[in-house]
Amino acid sequence: MTETEPKHFQGRFDGQVVVVTGSATGIGRATANRFGREGALVACLDINVADNAVTAEGLESGKTLAVECDVRDHSSQAAAFDRVIEAFGRVDVLVACAGIYVGGPLRSVPLDRWRNIEATNLTGVLLSNQLVAPTMIDQGSGSIINVSSMAGKTSWPNSAEYSATKSGVIGLTRSVAMELGPHGITANAVCPGNTLTDMVRSVAGEVGETVGMSGDNWLAMRADDTALKRLAQPWEVAGVIAFLASSDAGYITGQSIEVDGGLILS
Ligand SMILES: NC(=O)c1ccc[n+]([C@@H]2O[C@H](COP(=O)([O-])OP(=O)(O)OC[C@H]3O[C@@H](n4cnc5c(N)ncnc54)[C@H](O)[C@@H]3O)[C@@H](O)[C@H]2O)c1
Repeated sequence: MTETEPKHFQGRFDGQVVVVTGSATGIGRATANRFGREGALVACLDINVADNAVTAEGLESGKTLAVECDVRDHSSQAAAFDRVIEAFGRVDVLVACAGIYVGGPLRSVPLDRWRNIEATNLTGVLLSNQLVAPTMIDQGSGSIINVSSMAGKTSWPNSAEYSATKSGVIGLTRSVAMELGPHGITANAVCPGNTLTDMVRSVAGEVGETVGMSGDNWLAMRADDTALKRLAQPWEVAGVIAFLASSDAGYITGQSIEVDGGLILS
């Protein structure tokens, strides 16, 4: 079992500008940390100002920027990207990671809840891809990594809303890859399986309750569904995101990469 984060690549992203949405906690924070340790200037965009400040404080001073941003809102994202360009002048990598989970039986999906998860998980990704594209096209280079989920590739009961948004991210990413490829820009999605973040712990509590299980037992069951018999650590997803942004992945585009410990095999 992998217990600790392996050594990173010293200076792999030296001088590159990386924008991470959803950077305040979980996979987004691990991703900001990863790029920061590999030399990037990291712009952290999140609605959660307090935790986002903690992420930015963990990065090298002068090489980071924390920006309050609601990914659901075009003007909020546009203002955030303007701040990034003002501060750093370019964007080499976009990681669209901000997302929420809600679940429940299909027959009782409230329309406002559906609209909110769609606005966050799908419109939010569309907007950040749209807003970064002109800058990357002018540069003639860039990497976009959109965070989907295994729920976008396969489905479980009681998660129609989440699955729909995460499948949408995969389709959106394929189209972005085709459209921006001629400009030297790659676009890929990552599809994590259950990853140990606050989000998954709260989902475990809620879903566990509906099936008469504790959250911990539900997580143990989900771990048992994988080939590796364990859940992912946030930095394991961040490592794949960094790989997709690196020159080693320069000929990979339009893909949706499973980071699921073999969950899809079960
Ligand atoms: N943890 C998992 O098991 C798992 C599995 C598959 C996919 N994912 C996806 O990974 C991404 C990160 O999830 P996580 O597990 O790290 O959860 P998390 O709750 O720790 O992080 C989500 C981040 O998104 C931010 N966010 C939420 N709404 C926002 C908005 N409107 N505007 C800006 N920021 C907003 C939150 O403040 C938070 O910082 C999500 O897109 C999630 O769907 C997570």
